[in-house]
Amino acid sequence: MEKNVIKIDFNNIDISKEEPIHEPERQYYFIAKARKLVKDKSKKLGRPLTCMVTTFGCQMNQKDSEKLLGILELIGYEQADSEKADFVIYNTCTVRDNANQKVYGRLGFLNGVKRTNPNMLIALCGCMMQEPEAVEKIKKSYSFVDIIFGTHNIFKFAELLYTRLQSERMVIDIWKGTNDIVEDLPAERKYGFKAGVNIMFGCNNFCSYCIVPYVRGRERSRNAKDIIREIEDLASQGVVEIMLLGQNVNSYGKTLKEPMTFAQLLQEVEKVEGIKRIRFMTSHPKDLSDDLIEVMKNSKKICKHLHLPLQSGSTKLLEKMNRHYTKESYLNLANKIQTSIPDISITTDIIVGFPGETDRDIEETIDVVRKVRYDSAFTFIYSKRTGTPAASMENQVPEEVNKVRFERLLEAVQQVSKEKTQRFLGQVVEVLVEEVNQQDQSLMTGRMSHNTIVHFEGDKSLIGKIVEVKLEECRGFYYMAKLV
Ligand code: SAH
Ligand code: SF4
Ligand code: F3S
Repeated sequence: MEKNVIKIDFNNIDISKEEPIHEPERQYYFIAKARKLVKDKSKKLGRPLTCMVTTFGCQMNQKDSEKLLGILELIGYEQADSEKADFVIYNTCTVRDNANQKVYGRLGFLNGVKRTNPNMLIALCGCMMQEPEAVEKIKKSYSFVDIIFGTHNIFKFAELLYTRLQSERMVIDIWKGTNDIVEDLPAERKYGFKAGVNIMFGCNNFCSYCIVPYVRGRERSRNAKDIIREIEDLASQGVVEIMLLGQNVNSYGKTLKEPMTFAQLLQEVEKVEGIKRIRFMTSHPKDLSDDLIEVMKNSKKICKHLHLPLQSGSTKLLEKMNRHYTKESYLNLANKIQTSIPDISITTDIIVGFPGETDRDIEETIDVVRKVRYDSAFTFIYSKRTGTPAASMENQVPEEVNKVRFERLLEAVQQVSKEKTQRFLGQVVEVLVEEVNQQDQSLMTGRMSHNTIVHFEGDKSLIGKIVEVKLEECRGFYYMAKLV
């Protein structure tokens, strides 16, 4: 774990004064206050207080959880390795219903743990908490939860925790939206050598199946200078790979006072010394510019990988999904990218079972899979999200039909991706070493610029380094290799 590098002495904040109005100073003040309470409690118990943050959902949520952990660690909590901790936080996702069901299921288990530990606190935050029905259900059926907050006020975590520590009542604070971005909050990073960096928040696209714009609010870009400062800071701490995060990075900068494109931002990021690899997530096909392709092509640091969600290969469905591209325009775009950057990896997301989908539509999708030849694809069965336009569309597809189509699609995806991955066999490539292989401790696991996973014999000292390996055997989606 990488430690906080926030340069504030929390012991020197005068907590007898009134709370500051402005952020982030206000939160620094509450961190100092909560820190005192936690210290006292810990002294009384004769042991440190422990915490656990469990993350559901996407990289945006992962990043938010690192911010929560950063605050918790300053307040004085130690990280536990299970949910049998003094403070458990679920950072939730609601993009598909199964994510919600998981949370309810695990809350039942947490209730049991809480009965055995009178000191225990439980907090829920994240996207699911932006849905009023979910919050109602928790208030009614899961009243043992201590704190509930949403996606817009995550920066207020210290203040909310302090409020709960001072009272015995459930603390609920959910904002409908926000225009603000609070900078300079702490974060506790999971990896020392790679880090996610938010470049924008929210989404304005309203794809008709998707709940994200409702729970993450309107699109807001961070100022380039704040982004660059954060990346410089990360580089000075030894980070070599960064992942720029946003729901639609291609529309970065449109809402800034001094507008800037994503391609321009990337060129600024490229200049940061020490950063060796740049990734980004996610690109909406409708906004992917020629400039971006040009910048990617000429860059020494931007990875040879593009995640370009397709959702469906049927122009009829794409229109109903409000995606603003057609099968043909997507294929043209993919072709243009592959021509400019010949060995690039393209990956995608596909939804099966959008209302009105027919066998013909799924054939169109499979056709795109075979034409683009994705390196890999995440495939999802459509999940009806209350409040989205697609939820009230006619011709919702029965589950049994979706299952059959899903299998057909998966087979096509796996076939293509297996063939595609082989193209590097025998080559010597650079991999960033990420971890000890979970199955076989004598192996290290790393990642190519193309995002392909590679296993090879080596030792822990290589973690975080970029090394050259020879790709000796392709096993479907990954390689076995040897250090050269
Ligand atoms: N902003 C990203 C996607 C974020 S959600 C983008 O536009 O590409 C990640 C993926 O979840 C989406 O690409 C989509 O494939 C899937 N998804 C979103 N809503 C869904 C739903 N209601 N049912 C099933 N899958 C969904
Ligand atoms: Fe959802 Fe579409 Fe926004 Fe992605 S671009 S988060 S799929 S609404
Ligand atoms: Fe889920 Fe929220 Fe991400 S709904 S996918 S955690 S933006």
